[in-house]
Amino acid sequence: MAESGSGGCVNCCCSFIFTLGLTALFLWLSLRTSKPTCSVQKFLVPSLNKTDNSTTTRNNHTIFFDIKLDNRMKDKGVDYDTINLTFFYGQNYSFPIANYTVPGFYQGHDKHTSRKAVVETNGVPWEAAFEAVSNVSTVAFRVRLATRVKFKILVFYTKRHNLIVKGDIQVNDSGEKMNKKGIKLKSNAPHQLSHRLRLEFLVVILTVLMIFLL
Ligand SMILES: *[C@@H]1O[C@H](CO)[C@@H](O)[C@H](O)[C@H]1NC(C)=O
Ligand SMILES: *[C@@H]1O[C@H](CO)[C@@H](O)[C@H](O)[C@H]1NC(C)=O
Ligand SMILES: *[C@@H]1O[C@H](CO)[C@@H](O)[C@H](O)[C@H]1NC(C)=O
Ligand SMILES: *[C@@H]1O[C@H](CO)[C@@H](O)[C@H](O)[C@H]1NC(C)=O
Ligand SMILES: *[C@@H]1O[C@H](CO)[C@@H](O)[C@H](O)[C@H]1NC(C)=O
Ligand SMILES: *[C@@H]1O[C@H](CO)[C@@H](O)[C@H](O)[C@H]1NC(C)=O
Ligand SMILES: *[C@@H]1O[C@H](CO)[C@@H](O)[C@H](O)[C@H]1NC(C)=O
Ligand SMILES: *[C@@H]1O[C@H](CO)[C@@H](O)[C@H](O)[C@H]1NC(C)=O
Repeated sequence: MAESGSGGCVNCCCSFIFTLGLTALFLWLSLRTSKPTCSVQKFLVPSLNKTDNSTTTRNNHTIFFDIKLDNRMKDKGVDYDTINLTFFYGQNYSFPIANYTVPGFYQGHDKHTSRKAVVETNGVPWEAAFEAVSNVSTVAFRVRLATRVKFKILVFYTKRHNLIVKGDIQVNDSGEKMNKKGIKLKSNAPHQLSHRLRLEFLVVILTVLMIFLL
């Protein structure tokens, strides 16, 4: 009698743990987030356009960009903090030539949006750049995008996470981004966030299990 009683209890306990496991898995799946994708769709440097040798264009020291922000999650929104864009000339990140800030905004489920602007540059060695595109036909610019994002799950917001991505843009002697396709900006630490979330969640599950089992 005592045996069948304890067997029932073990069964009950097993199914309880199983249900708990399933719930945890479901919760984990529905709380999983991924950062938005950022890509440079257009990038124009009019003064490097070799076929347009008018002095107004040659002295136009602006760049035009079009950056796409893409939230690919079908059931979560993204709230962007102020977006800081920094542009660099050359092969490394030690030569900033322009800044631009995009005010923060909210982006709904599975939405994408573009931010475009003309920015004035400072300190580009224009003659050398022009010579370089003329000689070897491309010159490199770099873009760094830095912001903080929080995710909206149903009516709740997560805490903010850093979103810092960058990329290289080759410009040819038409003054245009060489690659017709968008250039995806990449992070140095691609899986940090999802990794962290997974860890946090494991801790929660273990704590819940402990509380119920002890
Ligand atoms: C470069 O200049 C030529 C001549 O003015 C113009 O037709 C062309 O559209 C310009 N290219 C770009 C990318 O603006
Ligand atoms: C522009 O450059 C082309 C060839 O590079 C030259 O034939 C033309 O005369 C130049 N035009 C001006 C206004 O300098
Ligand atoms: C300078 O180039 C930008 C594109 O980067 C263009 O919008 C602007 O009209 C140009 N300005 C002049 C004076 O040509
Ligand atoms: C970065 O570029 C500048 C100018 O092109 C150069 O002087 C410097 O040595 C470069 N730094 C690195 C770390 O490559
Ligand atoms: C970009 O912004 C920083 C700080 O706000 C400033 O120190 C720097 O001079 C700016 N660079 C350019 C090229 O405007
Ligand atoms: C471009 O070529 C010219 C001669 O054709 C040369 O004097 C100059 O140093 C070269 N510039 C670069 C940046 O390669
Ligand atoms: C963006 O720039 C502002 C002003 O320089 C700064 O306060 C903010 O922390 C920057 N944001 C990020 C994510 O770097
Ligand atoms: C420069 O790149 C643009 C965009 O890919 C392309 O349309 C253009 O033909 C290129 N110009 C040259 C001279 O290669």
